[in-house]
Amino acid sequence: MGEAVYPVPSEWAQNALVDAAGYDEMYRQSVENPEAFWAEHGQRLDWIKPFTKVKNTSFDEADFGIRWFEDGTLNLSANCLDRHLATRGDAIAILWEPDGLGEPHREITYRQLHEDVCRFANLLKAKGVRKGERVTIYLPMVPEAAVAMLACARIGAIHSIVFAGFSPDALAGRITDCDSRIVLTSDEGLRGGRKVPLKANVDEALKQCPGVDTVIMLRRTGADVGFVEGRDVDWASAAAQQSADCAPEEIGAEDPLFILYTSGSTGKPKGVLHTTGGYAVWASMTHQYVFDYRPGQIYWCAADIGWVTGHSYVVYGPLMNGATTVMFEGVPNFPDASRFWQVVDKFKVEIFYGAPTALRALMREGDDWVKKTSRASLRLLGSVGEPINPEAWEWYHKVVGDSRCPIVDTWWQTETGGAMITPLPGATPLKPGSASRPFFGVKPALLDNDGALLEGATDGCLVITDSWPGQMRSVWGDHERFFQTYFSTFKGMYFTGDGCRRDEDGYYWITGRIDDVINVSGHRMGTAEIESALVAHAKVAEAAVVGMPHDIKGQGIYAFVTCNVEVEPDEALRRELVAWVRHEIGPIATPDVIQFAPGLPKTRSGKIMRRILRKIGENDVSNLGDTSTLADPSVVDNLLANRPLLA
Ligand code: WTA
Repeated sequence: MGEAVYPVPSEWAQNALVDAAGYDEMYRQSVENPEAFWAEHGQRLDWIKPFTKVKNTSFDEADFGIRWFEDGTLNLSANCLDRHLATRGDAIAILWEPDGLGEPHREITYRQLHEDVCRFANLLKAKGVRKGERVTIYLPMVPEAAVAMLACARIGAIHSIVFAGFSPDALAGRITDCDSRIVLTSDEGLRGGRKVPLKANVDEALKQCPGVDTVIMLRRTGADVGFVEGRDVDWASAAAQQSADCAPEEIGAEDPLFILYTSGSTGKPKGVLHTTGGYAVWASMTHQYVFDYRPGQIYWCAADIGWVTGHSYVVYGPLMNGATTVMFEGVPNFPDASRFWQVVDKFKVEIFYGAPTALRALMREGDDWVKKTSRASLRLLGSVGEPINPEAWEWYHKVVGDSRCPIVDTWWQTETGGAMITPLPGATPLKPGSASRPFFGVKPALLDNDGALLEGATDGCLVITDSWPGQMRSVWGDHERFFQTYFSTFKGMYFTGDGCRRDEDGYYWITGRIDDVINVSGHRMGTAEIESALVAHAKVAEAAVVGMPHDIKGQGIYAFVTCNVEVEPDEALRRELVAWVRHEIGPIATPDVIQFAPGLPKTRSGKIMRRILRKIGENDVSNLGDTSTLADPSVVDNLLANRPLLA
C-alpha cells in the first residue's frame, strides 16, 4: 500500500471550516453527546415546527427503530429553494452542460428553479399525486430531473429514481415493487453522442405494469416516439399551464422522502427508504464540511441522479447550501478525453467530485488530454463509489490537481444517505487509498467473523455501532428484511457489507465488499441478480457469478454457466447470453467473461462453493483450499482446464 502522507496545505488549515483540532473536538462532542450535538446542527435547516426530540434509535431487535428529529416538520424543497430567494434568488442554482458540444449550456437561477418546481408540483397535484404516493423518475441528466425530485419533495410525494441505463424489465420491477402509478421520462436520452430510447423503454415496461395511468414525458431530442392518448402528457406544455405558486407541504421529519433501489447479496434489488429531516441534515452538513463549501463556489459532482451520489451531492446537499451545482449530461470521454477538464475550465469549477472508474479510464488515455486544459480554478477534488487505488489517487492529485488540491475520498453507501468515512480538507492529512477518518457522529468498528470487536491496527468487517441522522429507515414494503439484512449479522450493529483495514493512525482503508455484491465501475450489483437473469434464458440450467479484477471497472463480471443437457455451448451462445443479460438488466450488467461448465462445484448438500469460483475469477488458483467436501471434486479440474484466456 502507498505509505505516502500528504499534509494539510497550510492555506487549507488556516481557512477551512474545521482544522485538525476542530475536527477532534467536534468529533468528540458528536459521539460523546449526540443529543446535544445534533440538537445544535439540526438547526441548519428551516423547520416549520421545530423539533424537541433529537435521537430515538435502537439497533436491537427488541426495540428496533430509527427516528431523528421526530416531532419536527419541514419541507425539503423549501430548504433547497425558498430559503435562498431573498438573498440569492438571482444566483445560479444549476449549471447544466449538455452531452455534446453543439448545444448551449443552461444557467438556472434559484428563482427560476423555484418557479419550475412550483409549476411541476402543481402539475403532479393536478394529476392526482398525493402526499406519500410514489413517483417513478426515469430521466437523463437534465435539469428537469432535479425539478421533478424537488417537486415531489414539495408536495410530500416519494420519488423513486430509476437509472436511465436500466432495461425495461428492471424498470418494470421497480415500478411494481413500490406500486407507482405515475412515471416521468423523456423521449430519449443522450449519452456520449448516442441516443437512449427512454420512452420506448417505458412503453415496453408498462406492458407489465397495468397500474400506471400517467406518463409525463419531457422532449429532449424531439424524436418521434409513441404517445398514448389519455395516459401520456407532454411535460413542457402541461407544466406551462400551471401556476408558479405552490405552497410547500408541511412534512414530518420521519415522513419518507425517497426510495432508491439498490442491490444486496440476495434476492431482488431492495427499495432503500430515506426520510426527510435526518437525511436533509446529513446531506447538507456533509456537503458543507467535506467540500468546505461556501456559497458562490462552483461545485461539480459528476454522478448520475440515478445513484445516491446524485441525490445527495448533485441535488439535495448542494441546493440546501445555496450552491451552484453543475449537472453534466454526458460522459468523460466524449467527444474526447478532455471533456471533464474542459467543463471545469468553462465553468471555473472549484470543487470536482468523481468516481475512480472514470479516472482510471482517463488515466489510460494519457496526461496530454488533461494537461492541455488549464484547471486553474480547481481547489478540491473528491472520489466516491469504490476504492481508489493509490496509483489512480496519485494521478488524480498530480495530473488533474497539479499537486495543489486535496482529495477527499469519501466512503459511504446508498443506505447511509451521505459520506461516512472521509477526510475533511482542512483537517485530515491524506493517505492515497484511504478514506481516512469518520465524519461527525459516525462510530465505525471492525469485527472478526464471529463478531468479536477488534482493537488497534487490524483487518475486519466494517460495522457502525450507533445511528446517524442520514441512515436509511427501512426497505420499502419489507421492514423485516431491513432488520435482517443490516442488523442481524452482528447483533446491535449496522453491518455495511464491506471489509476494511484500520492502520496505526486510526485511518480506515476500505478493502471492498465481503458479501455477494460486486462493484462494477462504481455500480453495485448483486451476483444473485445476474444469476437469475442468466437462468431465465431457455438454454441455461444453472449459473454462478463472481467478481474479477478489472483495470478500469475495478471489478468485472465473471459468469459460470451450465447449459441444459441438449445444448452445445458455443461462441454464438456466449454472445447471445451477453446480449440477454444486457437486455434483462441493462448494459452495466454486461458479463466480461462467460465460462461454460458442465457442472458447478457443489457441496454434498448441493450448495455452490463460491469460494472456489471467486478464486478462479480472481485468477488465484494456486491454492483453492479444501475441496474434499465437494460432491464431485473433478468439477474443479474441468473448470481450471477450461478457463477462457483473459487478456
Ligand atoms: C463502495 C455509493 C471504497 C463500498 C456512494 C460500499 C467505496 C459501496 C467508497 C456502496 C470509497 C463507496 N472507498 N469503497 N470511497 N465509496 N464504496 O450504495 O463497497 O452505490 O459498500 O453507494 O461502494 O455503493 P453505493
